[in-house]
Amino acid sequence: MNDTKKYLITSALPYANGALHLGHLAGAYLPADIYVRYLRLLGKDVVFVCGSDEHGAAITIRSKKEGIPPQQIIDKYHTINKEAFERLGISFDIYHRTSEKLHHETAQEFFKTLHEKGGEFEERTSEQYYDEGFKQFLADRYIVGECPKCQHPEAYGDQCENCGSALSPTELVNPKSTLSGKTPILRETKHWYFKLDKHGEWLKDWIEKGEVDGEKLHEPKSWKKHVVGQCMSWVDGGLLPRAITRDLDWGIPVPVEGGEGKVLYVWFDAPIGYISATKQWAKDNDKNWEDYWKGDNVNLVHFIGKDNIVFHCIVFPSMLKAHGDYALPVNVPANQFLNFEGRKFSKSKGWGIEQLEYLEEFKDFDNKEDALRYALIRNMPENRDSDFKWDDYVDFYDKELADNLGNFVNRVIVLTNKYYGGKVPEVSTDLTARLKEINDLAQKIGKEIEAYNFKPAIQAFMELSTYGNTYLQDTSPWKIWKTEPDSEVVKECLFVCLQIVNLLSIYCEPFIPFSAEKFRRILNLPKVQNGDLATALTKLDAGDVLLPSGHQIGEPELLFVKINDRKDSSRLDIVNRQKEKLAAVLAAEAAAAHEPVKDEITYDDFTKLDIRTGTITAAEKIKKADKLLKLTVDLGFEQRTVVSGIAKQFKPEEVIGQAIVLLANLAPRKLKGVESQGMILMAEDKEGKLSFVQPHTVWENGHVVK
Ligand code: 2FM
Ligand code: ZN
Repeated sequence: MNDTKKYLITSALPYANGALHLGHLAGAYLPADIYVRYLRLLGKDVVFVCGSDEHGAAITIRSKKEGIPPQQIIDKYHTINKEAFERLGISFDIYHRTSEKLHHETAQEFFKTLHEKGGEFEERTSEQYYDEGFKQFLADRYIVGECPKCQHPEAYGDQCENCGSALSPTELVNPKSTLSGKTPILRETKHWYFKLDKHGEWLKDWIEKGEVDGEKLHEPKSWKKHVVGQCMSWVDGGLLPRAITRDLDWGIPVPVEGGEGKVLYVWFDAPIGYISATKQWAKDNDKNWEDYWKGDNVNLVHFIGKDNIVFHCIVFPSMLKAHGDYALPVNVPANQFLNFEGRKFSKSKGWGIEQLEYLEEFKDFDNKEDALRYALIRNMPENRDSDFKWDDYVDFYDKELADNLGNFVNRVIVLTNKYYGGKVPEVSTDLTARLKEINDLAQKIGKEIEAYNFKPAIQAFMELSTYGNTYLQDTSPWKIWKTEPDSEVVKECLFVCLQIVNLLSIYCEPFIPFSAEKFRRILNLPKVQNGDLATALTKLDAGDVLLPSGHQIGEPELLFVKINDRKDSSRLDIVNRQKEKLAAVLAAEAAAAHEPVKDEITYDDFTKLDIRTGTITAAEKIKKADKLLKLTVDLGFEQRTVVSGIAKQFKPEEVIGQAIVLLANLAPRKLKGVESQGMILMAEDKEGKLSFVQPHTVWENGHVVK
């Protein structure tokens, strides 16, 4: 990567209405930080921008509900998230805010430019819900009602979180304003729409082929499959004009005639926040922001979570293209989601841990920052969702950082101090072949980072450490030294190991920057500087050494102290407290989920039930009923049609052949036009997961259950 490019790296601007948790960190911030730190080590001209996204309905809803001004909310969470990022070593060059004047001006200018160009916007008048008590139009999220698809009673005006369907507010059954709880009325209002439909064609070429107007901008294979897949399904599904203004009193005022009382839609202004953050950074550092946004020399990369793909790969690029002067992102390496001990993060359910909460609860835990960074990198949800587990957190640290890397470094430092008074020994043998092997391993780490594969990158990093360990073990210099203290083999071995240790001390910086500092101290070297990796790799390439003979290293000091340490359980105790907290959540849930036993019935009541064994022989979906399956059940003596509400959890093809137990004398009833002749017995766990009640051993259909 010997180039003069300007690298502009962004991480999704988090909403300033809540504290971020570890899933966010693993999704959009840690990977970006590794990438940026790596670019800096290569001496690249890179700017890393982020900041708080301080507009949007979620902030105003919270403000109205809690009676706190929006400014107070955003100030609080801006401070919390900024501090957490700093303490975890996320090395933004600027952490800006979309409530800043500079951002308001930048977003308004952007809007005005597109408005004046003509052809990019259209104005539309439509009927939207209005809360007469609060005297305001209701953004989609302000309206709840019954989902027309799954009957979930609390679907939002834009989406049902139960069945995932995208909705519009007028589709909701029995809509209610979340502000007043009253039924809103429909009232006419005017909005500006961005004509996204105009952009479908070039977007398709760009995403599929990496080409725009015949010019190759990126290698399409370099984009993650799940990102391309999601984009193509949007583009192929047909893009529609999108409203980019809202009737709200919190946000950036619409800067054109007729825009009074309206603000820009938060997803219109937020990505422009990357531009305003760059402008502010450039002002503070005497640079030209346009160098990082405009022209062929720009290398723009957006790090985000998968829920932000559409806005970063379709909407914002179309806005940039429509504006005309801007470069498009060369990649949007979106991550999937991180779960937490087998479940989704949920603040209300007490499941998960926030960044600052982690830092506070682990305040007495030595190297907590890198312990966390390492665990999240090792299990990064790069191409599929992954799961954070406290046991992995301990194992990764102890078995990989302490046993592999730490142990290798320590042995090399101890032996060098013991044999050579801490001086890198002189060697006379030709080490070209050995250095080449080391170089190849080192190159692999960089290649993976450049391809945004951070988990494979850290594994490649560990391979280099394993290589060193194996080489040291195979040579076992301690055996030779006993009888031949002046042995060339021993000198060569430690010399080579010290070169590897030096390389590891540079390469670990993007991943575990806190340990990198200590690592360098142990080697008696200054903190790694921008460009150090480039220098090291150039030397290796030329067959030169990295740590010259005669360099005095430092005293031995353990780089990583194990968490699971028999002599000192204090750190394991801290981790175990987290596990206990989760166990308590589960216990409370189990207690709450325990349904009271229903009213007593008589034996005669029970004998009225005719319960039979059977087998499902056919299954199909029922039109317009996404919860129901139409099943054919073989009872041995007859076939029954049964409609069962299991379609959300079972596909028709999965249940054919399933042994079941059927309540066979339930009065028939019609569901979505199909007569159901009985009910299949299912067990439901506390998460709502269904399983078939079935005979323990295989037996014939039609037997009586009693
Ligand atoms: O999902 C979110 O948290 C949004 N605030 C991300 C915005 S990213 C960018 F566009 F600013
Ligand atoms: Zn629904």
